[in-house]
Amino acid sequence: MQPHAISKYRPFPPVSLPDRTWPDQIISSAPIWCSVDLRDGNQALPQPMSVEEKLEFFDLLCRVGFKQIEVGFPSAADTEFNFLRRLVDENRIPDDVTIQVLVQTREHLIRRTFEAIAGAKKAIVHIYNSTSPLQRRVTFSDATREQIRDLAVEGAKLVKELVPSIPQTEIILQYSPESFSDTELDFALEICNGVIDVWQPTPERKMIINLPDTVQWTTPNIHADMIEWMGRHLNRRDSLILSLHTHNDRGTGTAATELGLMAGADRVEGTLFGNGERTGNLDIVNVALNMNGHGIETGLDFSDLPALRAVYERVTRMVVGERHPYAGELVFTAFSGSHQDAIKKGLDRREKETKEDAATPWGVPYLTIDPQDIGRSYEAIIRINSQSGKGGIAYILDREHGMDLPKTMHPQVGKRIYDLADELGRELTPDEIHDAFYKFFANIETPLAVKDYELVHHTTERGQVECLATVVVDGVEKQARGLGNGPINSFVHALESIGLKDFKVTDYRSHAVRGGSDASAAAYVQVQHEDGRILWGCGVDSSIEMAGLKALVTGWNLLRA
Ligand code: KIV
Ligand code: ZN
Repeated sequence: MQPHAISKYRPFPPVSLPDRTWPDQIISSAPIWCSVDLRDGNQALPQPMSVEEKLEFFDLLCRVGFKQIEVGFPSAADTEFNFLRRLVDENRIPDDVTIQVLVQTREHLIRRTFEAIAGAKKAIVHIYNSTSPLQRRVTFSDATREQIRDLAVEGAKLVKELVPSIPQTEIILQYSPESFSDTELDFALEICNGVIDVWQPTPERKMIINLPDTVQWTTPNIHADMIEWMGRHLNRRDSLILSLHTHNDRGTGTAATELGLMAGADRVEGTLFGNGERTGNLDIVNVALNMNGHGIETGLDFSDLPALRAVYERVTRMVVGERHPYAGELVFTAFSGSHQDAIKKGLDRREKETKEDAATPWGVPYLTIDPQDIGRSYEAIIRINSQSGKGGIAYILDREHGMDLPKTMHPQVGKRIYDLADELGRELTPDEIHDAFYKFFANIETPLAVKDYELVHHTTERGQVECLATVVVDGVEKQARGLGNGPINSFVHALESIGLKDFKVTDYRSHAVRGGSDASAAAYVQVQHEDGRILWGCGVDSSIEMAGLKALVTGWNLLRA
């Protein structure tokens, strides 16, 4: 933005609240959640949901555990009205779920809303009108405070009058001063108190005052000050449920909600993955999982987030971004080597610690929660690109392919594989890493290959083994024979017998390949050339002995590559 453009903006005035208490509060329990996916979320979709899609979404929200669901603006359009009627007439609303309907404080719309909810067991009738100076001036053609206040109070009176007309429906009343976020606090208070005075809630029969951050104009701390200030000054606070409804214009919907809860709010309205007008509504998944991550039970079940996301993306035709908290494709993925190393160490340590004490608190570097708790898998945690470290590659080979490489082999393998990622200019999948490992480090057969072998255990010379091997050197088959104290040692001497003497074996490991399809074994042999170079080779075979010989041959071949 150019400096001359910036000059047209003004700072947002702070709230005078020197004895604010919210900064010292800790969130220790979950609020009442209300999903507004089917109203605020739906109204913001380029292609709104069909009735069938809304029904599917409604069922999904019930399964997640929402007990309050705003199902639309039934007086605004026939599709909204019909959807609500289907919910009611087809008995699709679980007994413990209260539907919520939104309506402006206008007489004919309020009357139509009551027709729409007739027959529902429980409903929240949510009335609103816009209150900010900007809205009063621009949208309502210089309406006075008094006119705007009267609109709210008259609407509240009509609602009160209509409640007895549907006695079979238990009604909770809700009022929102829309655009609360830039309304003068004294006026927001006056108008809310006006509605409260009409509805006369009691501690047994509370009403909801919803204070929308309709447009985020300022920082979350000022929003929290506004909430705390309102909570202190509203009449009949003990008869109110104070509700938040944040949007995300400044990218701080989650922060504003969390600070708003610290400031005394009891209830939160929002949507799954933050769908909603402009930059969206509050992402309830985000706030609820943040709470879970601090050990707070929320009543919402996000244990299969990928399935939830799939339904959401299908019916809304919106896409959850790759970096979206908790739900994004990449959010449990580490690309940088140091992060990968730390995660591998953390997961290994955790596996060990939870064996000793299943209640060990979560603590893995870079992972705020266990991805498995929300249906994500560890396989995707570490992906390899040219920024990756050796630990990440070893981790993939270990976790995904059951190959436990010796630690001193990690740098050799790591370098070759991330050079490959660099050459290709992209990330490698676990399968590509596996294939590259085999191509560069396992069962390499040129110029030397072992075709067959036999081990003869000498009873005369205790502990001695004779290796009779058929090998191919530069395309020529040869018979080699050597004596040693084990298969590898006797094979080394057999190779010496055909003139391959310029190396020695300096280390050896083997293990069964975890999850291998044909119960194969992996062996790793470190060979040192007489010029000082040291390399590891790997052999994989159904026989552990043959795996060892192949590993040695691979190491020998790599020294010549
Ligand atoms: O954002 C908003 O102010 C709203 C109200 C209607 C609650 O959606
Ligand atoms: Zn909204």
